[in-house]
Amino acid sequence: MGLIAIIGGTGVCDPKILSNVHEDYMDTFYGTIHYWQGTYKDKELVFLPRHGRNHSIPPHLINYRANILGLKRLGVTAILSTTAVGSLNRDDKPGDFVLPDQFLDFTKCRHTSFFDGGENGVVHVDMTEPYCPTLRRTVVAAAQALGGYTLHDKGTYVCTEGPRFETPAEIRMYEKLGGDLVGMTNVPEVCLAREAEICYATISMVTNFAAGISPTPLTHEEVVEAMAENSQRLQQLILKSIEL
Ligand code: HPA
Repeated sequence: MGLIAIIGGTGVCDPKILSNVHEDYMDTFYGTIHYWQGTYKDKELVFLPRHGRNHSIPPHLINYRANILGLKRLGVTAILSTTAVGSLNRDDKPGDFVLPDQFLDFTKCRHTSFFDGGENGVVHVDMTEPYCPTLRRTVVAAAQALGGYTLHDKGTYVCTEGPRFETPAEIRMYEKLGGDLVGMTNVPEVCLAREAEICYATISMVTNFAAGISPTPLTHEEVVEAMAENSQRLQQLILKSIEL
C-alpha cells in the first residue's frame, strides 16, 4: 500500500499517535481540506477528520468531493474510514464492528460525483464491489490478531440524508430492502473514492439499535457516548490494520 488515509471522527483521528506530524490545509477545486500527515511505525499516514477540525460539519454538509480530491492530490492510494451506525440486524449489536460490503443510497441533496459533464466528462463507474475486498480482509486479519473483537465481515449500509434520525417506518422499509446498518456519511464518500480509483473500506461501529428496534427514543448523546466507549478499540483496530 502507498500513502494511507484515515477518515474518521475526532477521537479516532488523534494526531498524537503520529510522529513527524504536521497539520495542513489544501485548496481544491471544490473547497479546502484540513488534515494531519505523519508516520506510524514507518508508514506514512494522513488523518482527515470528516466533521471538520472542531466536529462542526453535519453529515449532509460535508464537502465529500473536496475531501476525496484532496486525498487523491496528496497521493493517497487507500482510505480506511470509520462510521457510527445504528443497526437493523439483530445479529449486529451495539459495541460490534461491521465491514460493509454493499450500500443502499437514500441521500437526497449531495454532490455524488466528480463526473458532472463538461470538462469532467460523463463517466459511469462500476459499483459491483464498492468496498475494497483486500482492505476489508486486512481489517478482519487485524481483528483476529488483536482478539476480543466482534467483527462482522459483511453488511449492507443504508445511507440516509440526516441529520435527523429515522422514523421506525423508514427503518422497517430499509429492513425489507435488505439493509443491515443505517448511517449518514458513507455515501457519497465510497462512490467518490471509487471514481478517484482509491481503494476504500469503512469500519462501522454499531452504537445503537435503529429507531423502532431500540426500546427507547434515540438521542445524539447516546450515540456520542457509545462512540466514546469504543473509540480506543476502534483506534487499535485501525492501527493494527495499517501495520499488517
Ligand atoms: N441512524 C443514523 N445514523 C446513525 C445512527 C442511527 O441510528 N446511529 C449512529 N449513526
